[in-house]
Amino acid sequence: RQVQFQKRFFASKIGRAGKNIPPQIQEMMERKLYNVTNHPISILSNIIRKYFETEKITDIEIPGEKFICESSFNSLVNTKKCFDDVLVPKDHVSRQPSDTYYFDDDTVLRPHTSAHQIEMIRSNHNAFLVLGDVYRRDTVDKTHYPAFHQMEGVRIFNYDQINAKDYDHAKKIAENDLKQTLLGLSSHVFGNIETRWMPENFPFTDPSLELEVFYNEDWMEILGCGVIHDQVMRNAGRDPEKEVGWAFGLGLDRWAMSLFQIPDIRLFWSKDERFLGQFKEGEITTFEPYSKFPACFKDITFWIGEDYDENGFMELIRDNSQDMVESVECIDTFTHPKTQKTSKCYRINYRHMDRNLTNEEVDEWQFKLRERVESELELELR
Ligand code: PHE
Repeated sequence: RQVQFQKRFFASKIGRAGKNIPPQIQEMMERKLYNVTNHPISILSNIIRKYFETEKITDIEIPGEKFICESSFNSLVNTKKCFDDVLVPKDHVSRQPSDTYYFDDDTVLRPHTSAHQIEMIRSNHNAFLVLGDVYRRDTVDKTHYPAFHQMEGVRIFNYDQINAKDYDHAKKIAENDLKQTLLGLSSHVFGNIETRWMPENFPFTDPSLELEVFYNEDWMEILGCGVIHDQVMRNAGRDPEKEVGWAFGLGLDRWAMSLFQIPDIRLFWSKDERFLGQFKEGEITTFEPYSKFPACFKDITFWIGEDYDENGFMELIRDNSQDMVESVECIDTFTHPKTQKTSKCYRINYRHMDRNLTNEEVDEWQFKLRERVESELELELR
């Protein structure tokens, strides 16, 4: 029913050429920021790449092993690759059209680079990185954007190379190697900082972990990882009684935001020279904000039904004001005592990154938004 809903929404209102991926997302799919020289996303991905390509990453050295980095996969992938092959349960939220963009019933815009693990392992790669743009429908704030970037890493050993006695022993060795790799990487990139491991739960790894670093006076989650699930190994054509491997996935945008001190995730997509001109390949420098334009708050309130899709509302806002919205916050939820109808009030913060917005201009955006909430989301304004 949800797929139906999103399809109807985009096919009739926003999408074009029968696709249910909004035009602003289609535009982002073309940008490939990791290939743009002197862009913070490419600078950071190159630093990570180089680390894996040239450093001795752990005590386990395998003659002839060389990490390769694949960044040319299409961001449209089939749901089998993206979900089934990596054991994502049928009812997992990431499969919902409220969270993931569906191109058609069995094709999505990948929400993670893990979608390519299996094909890489199948092609006999045992040490590789996958770099790519990934997409998730989400709320609007300074750290969330429907498009961002991930780097996936995988290393596979056969039991002989690591002197493993049995499956459990092999898993233990792989887990230790994974930890050594990622602690090495994080200190290479972030410097000498405090770290901690947190237990996690990913369908495709067992055990699963998260690494947090203490940076800019706060704990920050920087990646998810684990020992590759034996069923994933089998799905990729490997025998878990003979081979074992680890995998990790990290979000480049969050890393770059803290390393370069970039205050708003929208800036990565800016075409303004005052942003783009500040960075240089190979260097992590501090971003100098060139604008502190005033915020402009507008509220909107409407009645919602049971099938209300909040991410759909967020997307409408992004589409309506073309990235001029810094954040959207639900400031009140009210249920009418008699009718039991529920309404939500959202506070929208309009703030452009590159220029000043006038109040009249924002009023126009807000007026258009109100109209579209009624006509496209079919919600009743209060
Ligand atoms: N795919 C996971 C995510 O997007 C990250 C991950 C990759 C975790 C590989 C474990 C192993 O959150």
